[in-house]
Parts: sequence; structure tokens; C-alpha cells
Amino acid sequence: AASTSSSNPHSQPQESGATQHRVESVKRHLSRLVAKSLCAVAADLDVEPMIEVSKSGFGDYQCNNAMSLFSRIRESATNFRNPNAVGQAMADNFPPSRIVESISVVGPGYVNIALSSDWIAQRIQDMLIHGIESWAPILPVKRVVLDFSSPNIAKEMHVGHIRSTIIGDTLARIFEFANIEVLRRNHVGDWGTQFGMLIEFLFEKFANGEEAGNQAIENLQGFYRNAKKKFDENPDFKGRAQQAVVRLQRGEDRYLAAWKSICQISRNEFDLVYKRLNVELEEKGESFYNPYIPRVLEELTSKGLITESEGARVIFIEGQKAPLIVVKRDGGFNYASTDLAALWYRLNVEMAEWIIYVTDVGQQQHFHSFFSAARLAGWLPDKKEEKYPKVSHVGFGFVLGAEGSRFRTRSSDGVVRLVDLLDEAKSQSLAQLIKRLTENGQIADWTDEELDKTSEAVGYGAVKYADLKNNRLTNYKFSYEQMLSDKGNTAVYLQYAHARICSIIQKSNKDVKELKLTESITLGHPDERSLGLHLIQFAEVVEQACDDLSPHRLCDYLYTLSERFSQFYTNCQVVGSPEETSRLLLCQASAVVMRQCFHLLV
Ligand code: ARG
Repeated sequence: AASTSSSNPHSQPQESGATQHRVESVKRHLSRLVAKSLCAVAADLDVEPMIEVSKSGFGDYQCNNAMSLFSRIRESATNFRNPNAVGQAMADNFPPSRIVESISVVGPGYVNIALSSDWIAQRIQDMLIHGIESWAPILPVKRVVLDFSSPNIAKEMHVGHIRSTIIGDTLARIFEFANIEVLRRNHVGDWGTQFGMLIEFLFEKFANGEEAGNQAIENLQGFYRNAKKKFDENPDFKGRAQQAVVRLQRGEDRYLAAWKSICQISRNEFDLVYKRLNVELEEKGESFYNPYIPRVLEELTSKGLITESEGARVIFIEGQKAPLIVVKRDGGFNYASTDLAALWYRLNVEMAEWIIYVTDVGQQQHFHSFFSAARLAGWLPDKKEEKYPKVSHVGFGFVLGAEGSRFRTRSSDGVVRLVDLLDEAKSQSLAQLIKRLTENGQIADWTDEELDKTSEAVGYGAVKYADLKNNRLTNYKFSYEQMLSDKGNTAVYLQYAHARICSIIQKSNKDVKELKLTESITLGHPDERSLGLHLIQFAEVVEQACDDLSPHRLCDYLYTLSERFSQFYTNCQVVGSPEETSRLLLCQASAVVMRQCFHLLV
């Protein structure tokens, strides 16, 4: 095993031009070291370092390159007997670094790296001094378009839209934390033939246009369903509705005014939800991109991508049965033509390097097709080495009710209402809070306003967290009881855990802001070290969440953090112990990291 202590001259992580003080994650740091040792062992082979957090209990990280490297080396010249010999050679050639305490090789060929406890402690102390931003990931993009929430005008904002809103907002926060400019886009469904039918229906029902434009959202959704029914059943009405679309698209005053007020009614309703969830978005609905569609289709036609098929204009995509329709048989544009125009706009006008779409997995096919079309058009790089600009579809599963069927909250007319869901979460959390405060005899100390604010924060936080903690692709069961439980991986439990850390610090009567500058952290006890190691892994977890667009990684991280903290607190006395100052700093660092996770998630 190699043991080293000299400092590594190659460890300056700062990206040039970065204004903040930021350090690279441990994993990246180790990757560079491993790359050097790989180079020493097999200079002629281009090998990507494979590093993960150690699961074996040997060391803190393990490098898994030796096995595959052995088989590759064997094909050329061979002076290694087995994978272990390769691993040993890697260990022997590991560049000296102050971050590494020791290296061991365990069969077959795993190179285990134990970090220096002093270095871990120093890294935590640096974070306390420079702020948690110093642990923000360093990514090679400057501007991202995040297309999320995106409900449809005059239709219900269903549970799928809440998932999109929550997941999208968290991704936006994570990127913003990494100092990336995020254009938060609400791609509202505000255009299309359905508006002709709705407007025609309203004009027939209310002779006076004013009244038509002054409807409550519930009425609007009801009218929408009735209009659809009439459209399907009554050919006369269908004809008039189609006529109305043409008049709307031509921009006739009366039609345009009706459309605008319908949009406004829905928008007001959506905004209520955004306000409650504390989500900011900029609406650029489908109609915004309408003027760009003709020129985009022209470009695709001139590139020979668009063909005529059964009266429609389509793009054929290799390996796919159905082509992508971009102009319908009646000459109208559709969801796909709008998405192509929006992508063109985002790439060429907004100059985004990464465009991310958050919708349920049901739309996977649509995104796959239109991404392929964009690639055929040469808008996106084809070659593997060129990563940007790139597009990603962030799909998610369904929310299930208690019986395992698709989740529905019902109002009297059977429409899914998101506000009901939030109301219920709030009222259940209020009931719980009152019960607990009454049991503790503290209820008299709370004003109504405090109760209200707290139950909102806890209730909405619980809904968000319960959504985010699942791998987004899996369906999950919606349960108020579970999400508001104070045990297990829930927002409530984690908020308690954080409050407890704060009260430990408070009890000490010490000013940690002072302490971090004058006292140092030592990780002598195994539980201190294990907590410290987890703390410094925050950066790579955020990095990973950015890379695969999976917020649940942060939830897992946060929950493990609270477990490690409990373990530490159970076995290491803080206040009144000889290690008090060091341990208080560790408490403080845990609280800072937890708060940052909360900020990113809820
Ligand atoms: N309005 C769509 C829906 O409710 C989602 C839009 C997603 N964004 C996009 N650019 N296609 O399903």
C-alpha cells in the first residue's frame, strides 16, 4: 500500500473566470489522480477512471479499473499475471497527494483509497469559512432552458403537472446553485384547434362576449368538456368550430379577445399553485412560437427532411414505425411543429446549451422523435465527442392513490384540483402541529399566524419532498399520512433533525461564526469521521444529480446525513466535552449542508 503526504501540485480546481471560490468534488479530484496512475501503468490505452464510493468497507473510495484493464493489456504485451497485479501497479504509481491517507489493493484488482482525515476536516472548515457555494458543482454549461410545469389552457392542471412543476423547479434550483443561468419556461398549451371549439361554444352560450370572458375556471373546464362533446357529436358545430380556428388565427378581434380572456382565467388559476409552491416561471406558451413555425418547416423542407404522407407532411425517422407529423392533413400545425420551432428558438435566439423538458413518461416517444428530427436537421451534434448543445427529456411516472389506481383528487364535478391537494396537506399538518403543541403544553405560545405559516411550510414541503425522494421514473403512492410522518425519510423528520442540530449549537452558548475562524476540526472518533466524509460528498452528489437530472439522489443523501448525524450525536458528547469546539463546528457544517439541501428540494 502506498502512503503519501506531500501535496499535489495539480490540485488547483478553479475554473478560470469563476468569480466564486469553488473547489472540485472529491470524486473529480480522485479521478485526476487515478488517471495519472492509469497512465503510468498503460500509457498507450485511453482509459476512463472508474471510481465510486467504497461499499466494501476497505477505504473510502474504490477504483474498479484493474479488471477490464487487465484483459485489455493481455491482448497487447503482457507483464501482469492477474487483475490484482494491475491494481498493485496502479497503487504503486499513484501520484503523491495530501488528500490520500493510504491505498490498499483487494482482489480482484480493486484499488481502495482512504482519504486523509485531516484533509476531510480541513475541507469542511474551508466550507464553513467560504460558504456552501464553494461546494457547488462546476459544470461546462452557462445557460440552460428548463421547460417544465406547462399545463394546458382551459384544461385541468392535473397531478402530472404538479410533478413536472416540483421536479422542474428543483432541477432549476440545482443548476442555479451551480451558477448556471436557467431560463425557466412554462410551455403552456395555449394554441390549437381546441380553442376554436371552446370559443364557438362560449359565443353560442353567451351572446355577449363580455360574459363569455368572465367565467370562473371551473366553468371553463366544464364548458371545455361540453364543447368537446358537441364537437364530436354535431357535424354542424364541428364546421363552425373549425371556422372559428381560422378566424382566430387570422386575428379577428372578437376571437382574439375571447382567446385572451380564456388564457387569462387559466393563468390566474395556475399562478395560485405557483405561488403556493413558491415556484417562478416565465410563460412562453405554444402560441409564442407560432410565428416561427413556417420558416423552421421551410428549413427542414429544404434539407429534404419533410415528405408528403397520406395528405400530411411528415418526417420519417429511422427505426420508427410512425413518422413525425409536422403539418396535419387540414394544413394546421401541431404539438410537434411547435416543439420544433421552440427548439429552434431556444438554440438560436436564446442560445441555450442544454434544453431540458420535464413531462410524464407517456411523452417519451414524442421527445425521442422530435429530438431525432432536430439531429437530422443538424441542429444538434451527432458525434459522440461533442456534448453541447444537448437536449434531455426528464420523464416521470404516475402518482397512485391508496388503492394503487391513478391518483385523483375530486371536486364536485370530478375534476382533479391541485389546490385541494395542497389544502389537504396543509390542514393535516396543522392538525398534527396543534396536537403536538397541545401535548407539550406549548400551544398558548403560538399565534394563529405562526400556526398558519408553519403548517403551510410543513405541508407543502411534505408534498414536494414525497414526490422528489422517489426515483422519478417509478410510480409512487400518494399518502398524506406517510408524507407527514415524523419517522423515516420524510420532510417532517428531516426538519426535526435540523432543528435538533440547531438547538445543540444554541445550548452551547458559543458563537460558531467566531469558532470557525479560530478553532479547528478534528475527526478523531470513527463516527465523527464518517459524518465528515459524508459532508464532503455533498458536492459530488449534486454533480451527479445535475448529470442524470435525478433529484432523488439529494434526498437519499440528506436522509443518510441525518442518520450519520444521529449516530455521531449518540456516541460523541458535544457540549461539555473536551472536543466541544471541534464537534460544534461539525454540527454547524451539518446544519449548513442540510439547509442547502432543503433550499434545493423544498
Ligand atoms: N402541455 C403539455 C402537456 O400538458 C406539456 C408540454 C411540455 N413541453 C413541451 N415543450 N412539449 O402534456
